Amino acid sequence: MENTTEHLNWRYGVKRYDSAKKVQQEDMDKLQDAIRMAPSSFGLQPFKVLFIEDAELRAKLSVASFHQPQVTEASCLIVFAIETNVDEAFVDAYFSNICGARGVKLEGSLEKHRDSVVHAISRKQNEERLAWATHQAYLALGFLLLAAAELKIDANAMEGFMSAQYDEILGLKQKGLHAVVIAAVGYRHPEDLYQHMVKVRRPENELFIKI
Ligand SMILES: Cc1cc2nc3c(=O)[nH]c(=O)nc-3n(C[C@H](O)[C@H](O)[C@H](O)COP(=O)(O)O)c2cc1C
Repeated sequence: MENTTEHLNWRYGVKRYDSAKKVQQEDMDKLQDAIRMAPSSFGLQPFKVLFIEDAELRAKLSVASFHQPQVTEASCLIVFAIETNVDEAFVDAYFSNICGARGVKLEGSLEKHRDSVVHAISRKQNEERLAWATHQAYLALGFLLLAAAELKIDANAMEGFMSAQYDEILGLKQKGLHAVVIAAVGYRHPEDLYQHMVKVRRPENELFIKI
């Protein structure tokens, strides 16, 4: 835990990345694992994650991100896009994944569980389902940020972008996806002034209620 605190104090919301420094593939794989292993509601992981290194594409995305420099300067831009069609077929694909991974059959208690998940998903209004999917993507984002800090890789969450334009540029709509949050991953530029700023958080007595 001491280490976790140290990692959390080390990380910060990077504004300027050193574009000359690439994150090694081995480390990118570890970050990918952190996203993949994050828990999600029912285990459904109702999102996809795009890893974008292509400079030309990132130049287009930069315009849709208010020209925030992280989009083009970071080693990799990660886009979290929620699945917009989480339906019975999506749930079925998940349960067949369970059956394959655990070598079990759906018939019996697992089928009952499958039916209750379908019920829980289908009773949500579309807006509510999209919000639910977005929550799952943010949780995975959190795992990414912590894993990056543990590897001494900089990662910044970003909401300052136009999601409809991202959808358009990345062709997400046709894939049943919608961009909800992005993260820039790389190494801080030595001249990024934000790294020297004192961290500001709400005081413990305002943030926590202990009963
Ligand atoms: C969901 C989310 C969205 C954010 N969006 C942006 C953004 O668009 N641009 C940016 O420079 N920083 C963005 N940040 C970084 C925050 O401003 C930063 O994390 C916060 O001020 C706390 O500072 P720290 O991360 O340096 O501790 C975002 C952070 C989060 C968690």
